[in-house]
Amino acid sequence: MLFNRLIPVFAAAVQALPQPASASCRDIQIPITVSTPRFILATSLKDDWDAAALSLNLTRRDFSKASDPLPISGSTAAAVKSTYTVGATLCGNGGPTLVLTHGIIESKLYWRPNFPGSEKYNFVDAAIAQGYSVLSYDRIGVGSSPKVNSFTDAQFQVEVAVLEGLVNYAKTKAHASKVALVGHSYGSYISSAAATHVAVDGLVLTGFSGTFDYFPPFIAGAGFRIAKLQNPARWGQLDSGYITSSDLYAETYVYYAAPYFEHSVAEWTYNVASEPFAVGELPSLLATNVSYSDIKAPVLVLQGQFDVSACGGNCVGVVNGTKDIFTGAKVLEYVDNLPAGHNLNFHKVAPQAFQKIFKFLKAQGV
Ligand SMILES: *[C@@H]1O[C@H](CO)[C@@H](O)[C@H](O)[C@H]1NC(C)=O
Ligand SMILES: *[C@@H]1O[C@H](CO)[C@@H](O)[C@H](O)[C@H]1NC(C)=O
Ligand SMILES: *[C@@H]1O[C@H](CO)[C@@H](O)[C@H](O)[C@H]1NC(C)=O
Repeated sequence: MLFNRLIPVFAAAVQALPQPASASCRDIQIPITVSTPRFILATSLKDDWDAAALSLNLTRRDFSKASDPLPISGSTAAAVKSTYTVGATLCGNGGPTLVLTHGIIESKLYWRPNFPGSEKYNFVDAAIAQGYSVLSYDRIGVGSSPKVNSFTDAQFQVEVAVLEGLVNYAKTKAHASKVALVGHSYGSYISSAAATHVAVDGLVLTGFSGTFDYFPPFIAGAGFRIAKLQNPARWGQLDSGYITSSDLYAETYVYYAAPYFEHSVAEWTYNVASEPFAVGELPSLLATNVSYSDIKAPVLVLQGQFDVSACGGNCVGVVNGTKDIFTGAKVLEYVDNLPAGHNLNFHKVAPQAFQKIFKFLKAQGV
């Protein structure tokens, strides 16, 4: 398969490059204990017939209305306590620190890609060059983090608690003087929810508009498949509740906007970087009320204009709605028209997008 051939070539090429800024980075494992109730999912997934049925259930016209078919039958009466050893990468030695949370069908590689020519897409190196320390991590179930149960562990409120634990780690163990959360997509929801519970100095949201209205074209367009059946060599060890996209072009539709990206980059994200997400993640997000108005930190919403899941393919006239959501934020700025689709970091505009983030944070004293 293509990615099998490519990985050794990339690895060799990376070693031949001069030392990048991220030479100061190290991979670490951070044990995080969380205690939160779990939703009880009323769905089962064993094959692609079930994946198709779930897609219909999650995209029905009456979904998220009072009579909705959200596949949740309740939640545990008590909090469930778990400890996860989160796989993370820490760059720098404290001071102003950015904590990065990636989205679904991806991993922390989203922030720090490693293919030849990926320098301009490397958010972590750009942040280090601006004097930031950076903590990025794989969400539970993804990459270097444990392959948790896709129904009972990989749920939104659990992932929010994990991020809160990581913010605490940054402040107490990694010498962070200020902490800003930077999220992409599902990671923007996690970052927002964490910012309603823990004090942070800035919140930067990408692949996000605050509304779930445009999830259906994303869900239908991605063409959900059971990951372990789709690619047994790569994902055979996952339980059958882990889901991925149907093919390169389906993933391109939901994550990229032509002509603002290189095809080779979309090929790399699909063949090398993409990581399945868990069936528990979307229903638990949809069932949670995030109290955006409780967020006090300055907020930047930075959008590619042609984002499918956030804006139905056009963010102009949608992202302006965030000013009615973040009503308690000290500052709310939004950008709705960068020439990009959902995967902002992997479009040609990425370097300019990164600088907008740093400029915003520095203006807020981070
Ligand atoms: C989809 O919804 C139907 C009707 O509510 C339900 O019987 C079925 O189990 C659901 N399927 C999945 C995979 O969630
Ligand atoms: C979310 O808010 C709605 C409307 O205020 C309420 O009906 C619902 O029970 C809340 N859900 C949770 C999980 O708190
Ligand atoms: C956002 O912009 C659209 C289009 O101009 C407008 O219809 C809508 O009322 C605006 N929303 C807010 C909350 O300002």
